[in-house]
Amino acid sequence: MVSDVLEVEGGSPLTGRIAVRGAKNFVSKAMVASLLGQGPSQLNSVPQIRDVEIVADLLRAHGVSVSVDDATGTVAMNPLGVELAKAADIATHAGSSRIPILFCGPLLHRVGEAFIPDLGGCDIGGRPIDFHLQILRQFGAEVSKEPGGIRLTAPKRLQGMQMELAFPSVGATEQFLLTAVLAEGITVLRGAAVEPEIMDLVAVLQQMGAIISIETDRTIKVEGVDSLEGYRHNSLPDRIEVASWAAAALATGGDITVDGARQDDMVTYLNVFRKAGGRFDITETGIRFYHPGGPLSSIAVETGVHPGFMTDWQQPLVVALTQATGLSVVHETVYEQRFGFTEALRRMGARIQLYRECLGGQVCRFGMRNYQHSAIICGPTPLRAAEIEVPDLRGGFSHLIAALAAPGRSTVTGIGLIDRGYEHFNAKLEALGARTWHR
Ligand code: EPZ
Repeated sequence: MVSDVLEVEGGSPLTGRIAVRGAKNFVSKAMVASLLGQGPSQLNSVPQIRDVEIVADLLRAHGVSVSVDDATGTVAMNPLGVELAKAADIATHAGSSRIPILFCGPLLHRVGEAFIPDLGGCDIGGRPIDFHLQILRQFGAEVSKEPGGIRLTAPKRLQGMQMELAFPSVGATEQFLLTAVLAEGITVLRGAAVEPEIMDLVAVLQQMGAIISIETDRTIKVEGVDSLEGYRHNSLPDRIEVASWAAAALATGGDITVDGARQDDMVTYLNVFRKAGGRFDITETGIRFYHPGGPLSSIAVETGVHPGFMTDWQQPLVVALTQATGLSVVHETVYEQRFGFTEALRRMGARIQLYRECLGGQVCRFGMRNYQHSAIICGPTPLRAAEIEVPDLRGGFSHLIAALAAPGRSTVTGIGLIDRGYEHFNAKLEALGARTWHR
């Protein structure tokens, strides 16, 4: 087994070419969608990451046969034997991911019942599931808390309904879609999230036979059908991973070509990257991101739902902004506690101050609630090597970038967490000339 501690000899630019495959935050949902079909489904361009293993195991526990070909990135799923999983099989996944909550709708349709273990995922705020439960109850599901999780039952076929989300939550919109497609009648969701990963899920469901229309004002309408088929689909690329490598190029003064990256998914990111002083070329196969030399520029950026600047793009970019001249302002409006990772950056020499106020943009729902959700980064400050503990997936990757930018030897502990979302990141680091060793 590969050790969980990585020694990083930083201070050299990352240079070279790597490739990304399907989006972590789409493939797991498309795999869950296979539960809804009467026939087999096939998903292509699936990355070899821990989240995919977890969802494959959960599907198997529910009677779906799943075969994963890591080399080709193909996952074949056959849901012919769908059944309620044994409590012990589900319990092994308690706390490991947030995907189990999305099994609710499909299981209620297929077997009339679902048990969802206590959820895991990154510790970046409260991460409640109230929208999910509200949606499921509106469809007619009964929800009860049990030791180790929640049990849901559908006394009769779930019924179409109308509701509005208080915030355009990605997961809640997916919950709505995965449940509405087989509910009886028409279902309307207002205030829905419209991220590209959600549009790809709509494409999968449409291929299966669902009738879904997206209106202009964050309203999604679904006309329920009686049954769905399987699907065959190529996942959209992982635009969070692409942005992470782009920030790594900027922070280390490097030049990284990311094959598989698509400009259409990255428009907002590319604007910010350019304003900060980065340069990019759109190539036949992907996008080349590079530091053109000279100083980087400080910027103000606010995270938000699509088509805004993704919250998951924020952490790696903050590392690059420590090298920009002047004061940069980052206002986080999606998660209330997503600046925990900056503490390690400060120890490495970065000058980052957190604020409870909404800085540099609009007033958001965290404004008066005592959360440190704005950051001012004063640069440029040289980074120094340090001992770092990975706090969460994106924060952890940012620490890795900081260690690669800082001259000297850093020790990064808890590197296994990064495997949840970054495929073969050790091999990619090697391909980019990084000097790292497992301890
Ligand atoms: C997805 O999380 C992603 N995870 C996150 O990526 C991503 O940061 C997020 O969407 C936003 O793009 C997966 O797809 C597995 P939300 P999700 O529901 O669906 C609040 C990563 O590193 N909310 O859009 O859980 C919530 O607290 C991860 O890859 C409620 O209040 O995010 C947050 O403030 C991290 N009640 C906001 O909505 C609810 O019931 C947005 O969360 C649900 C959410």
